[in-house]
Amino acid sequence: MPLDLNTLIVRPISGSIGAEIDGVDLTDISDEQFADIRTANDTYGVIFFREQEMSPDQHIAFAKRWGNIVINQFFTALDGYPEIAQVSKEPDQKMNIGNLWHTDHSYDQVPAFGSVLYAKEVPDVGGDTLFASVAAAYEGLSDGLKATLEDMNACHSSRHIFGAEKSRVSQVEELGSRIGNPKLATQNSIHPIVLTHPRTGQKGLYVNPQFTTHIEGWTTEESEPFLAMLYQHTMQQEYQCRFRWAKGSVAIWDNLATWHQAINDYHGFRRLMHRVTIEGVELQ
Ligand code: SIN
Repeated sequence: MPLDLNTLIVRPISGSIGAEIDGVDLTDISDEQFADIRTANDTYGVIFFREQEMSPDQHIAFAKRWGNIVINQFFTALDGYPEIAQVSKEPDQKMNIGNLWHTDHSYDQVPAFGSVLYAKEVPDVGGDTLFASVAAAYEGLSDGLKATLEDMNACHSSRHIFGAEKSRVSQVEELGSRIGNPKLATQNSIHPIVLTHPRTGQKGLYVNPQFTTHIEGWTTEESEPFLAMLYQHTMQQEYQCRFRWAKGSVAIWDNLATWHQAINDYHGFRRLMHRVTIEGVELQ
């Protein structure tokens, strides 16, 4: 059922996560509209807008309404705009960026709150993005497992994905022109496996297949099957939504409420997105 806020009508696109908002120009919104957009994001985890026209400065200005910008050190930035990370794939490239389920920047001790992703060029078909609700996934666990997870922490890192010691060598070789600065990939962090969302108070699972390396105090071998069980659980379709992009679409997601995965099914076509990432707070 649509959510009727003061200034917006918000249309959910699945049972657990994601909503579309029409009739808004993100370059010209009042404080009241922004407050409603924030409420929609808190409610659905990820929200989508269509047919937006934003210059790089307008994209940055809109993102700054949510908080300070985090500059991504690994993605190639748009010329002259270090705040805008380019997420791209050319027709002759095989690998895309972000096709493992993840939540951005979990390797930072203060992980990013969210991102504003703007579609500049997309294939006619393919290149959709999947989102999963980590709050719905948490709610779907048994009371026994919820209690077990309560005091557990997990370790996250950027090293194995962006660093010189990266384990997925072939992927990183192909992504080499788009992802750089391996020497800066030194981030390690420890976060609770169950987070309490700082704005909504909702609990959610905070581990992800890309950046989580192991459970604190456990070996990697001990951690792997346990984490795999949590990942399989979170990947269930009823916790997901799927967004089909068009040029000018914008997605805003909350990294503490969601995972996302960019589908790599558009070989031979160009896809170019501009991403601005917003600072978060330390997790409790
Ligand atoms: C990302 O992982 O930040 C990019 C997602 C996408 O390109 O759809």
